[in-house]
Amino acid sequence: MEENNNGYDSVDSWKTIMFLYNSALKEVGTKLEILNDEFQYVHQYNPIEHIKTRVKTAESIVQKLRRYGYESSIDNMVKYVNDIAGVRLICSFTSDIYVLAEMIGKQSDLKVISIKDYIKNPKESGYKSYHMLVTVPIYLSDSVVDTKVEIQIRTIAMDFWASLEHKIYYKFEGNAPEHISQELKECADMISVLDEKMLTLNSEILSFAAEEKR
Ligand code: GTP
Ligand code: MG
Repeated sequence: MEENNNGYDSVDSWKTIMFLYNSALKEVGTKLEILNDEFQYVHQYNPIEHIKTRVKTAESIVQKLRRYGYESSIDNMVKYVNDIAGVRLICSFTSDIYVLAEMIGKQSDLKVISIKDYIKNPKESGYKSYHMLVTVPIYLSDSVVDTKVEIQIRTIAMDFWASLEHKIYYKFEGNAPEHISQELKECADMISVLDEKMLTLNSEILSFAAEEKR
């Protein structure tokens, strides 16, 4: 941000912007916790294992703008960096992901801007996750600001892979030897097999329990 600094004004607006993104995270985080609690209450089942939230650091915002070829300015970051406020929902089964996505889509105060289904269409790296870009209205004393939040929904297994792959790739700064990328991709395939197996087992257990009840 420093390159474009024109005195206290930009410091002030940086603060204002970060205040908005932090508020948006709180709003969306609470909303999701309530949905999860309601689901537990109605269906005796929790679709969400846990929720992680984070606000992107100034360094990584600047880095992303540079990667996209834009100069660092408040305007550019608001316009082009979609994941300044990020929420990650970790669930047990792949089926939970779509249940959650639908619940989120139905929230009348959230606007869904875009969806990327990297479960149906995994990335070249093997990455799987369901991404939703939404906006949430933040009510200030004199205005309402629609603020972007990126929601990533994935299973525990997908999260395990993504976290470790990120750590490994980070060390190579994106230039990992071919066999490493290949093996990471193989790990992603194993993870998918695990997810499928767990889902099948769960359905079997559920229908078994339903039989018992009759
Ligand atoms: P970028 O963040 O610039 O990639 O924007 P984008 O528009 O391509 O967004 P995309 O939906 O591809 O994914 C953004 C986020 O998803 C990243 O910040 C990561 O958190 C996650 N992600 C995407 N691809 C990978 C991957 O190959 N490995 C891991 N570990 N995470 C990934
Ligand atoms: Mg990307």
